[in-house]
Amino acid sequence: MRDDVLEVLISADEIQQRNAEMGQQIAKDYEGKNPLLICILRGAVVFMSDLIRAIPAHVMVDFMGVSSYGGTSMDSTGVIKITRDVDANVAHHDIIIVEDIVDTGLTMRALVELLRTRGPSSIEICTLLSKPSRRKTTVDIKYCGFEIPNKFVVGYGLDYDENYRNLPFVGVLKSGVYEKRKEEKG
Ligand code: IMP
Ligand code: MG
Repeated sequence: MRDDVLEVLISADEIQQRNAEMGQQIAKDYEGKNPLLICILRGAVVFMSDLIRAIPAHVMVDFMGVSSYGGTSMDSTGVIKITRDVDANVAHHDIIIVEDIVDTGLTMRALVELLRTRGPSSIEICTLLSKPSRRKTTVDIKYCGFEIPNKFVVGYGLDYDENYRNLPFVGVLKSGVYEKRKEEKG
């Protein structure tokens, strides 16, 4: 698996350092508030599990599965399907959406719109990664781990075709990997 990686973009240490900073910031911003962190499955699972341990204050957690209609594994459409909804009634809660990456922003915009109809006290976005150059809509991101260039990345939760989520860093795959998968799928 490691052999498929062309370049490590963000190391495991850099990620943990940034998580610690964001955790402190969230604790400060939400002092006395007990926010509900909603992890977007499956990509944000790794980030979420480290992030919550970096927040030295009360938080609650929940999970939401979101997939975009008609997109490919490398692209999204902006029409989202909720594959798993939160258990919590989000009304009057301070929500923080925890996402792996904001790319075009279409998924996040649709998700924020949906959650807003449920009457939360507030909604903010916390994303590990953001690709500002790919944006097709404005997304107001309160906490962003790293802004990255327009490259397809994997690791630390992010996948290519459901693999590579367990790499401890964020990296770029060798182009041969995509070509090989395409051939295998026919
Ligand atoms: P958006 O709607 O274009 O912002 O897409 C967001 C979703 O696309 C993310 O939650 C990821 O699942 C996927 N995605 C976008 N860029 C990448 C990437 O570089 N690697 C892995 N998944 C990505
Ligand atoms: Mg995702």
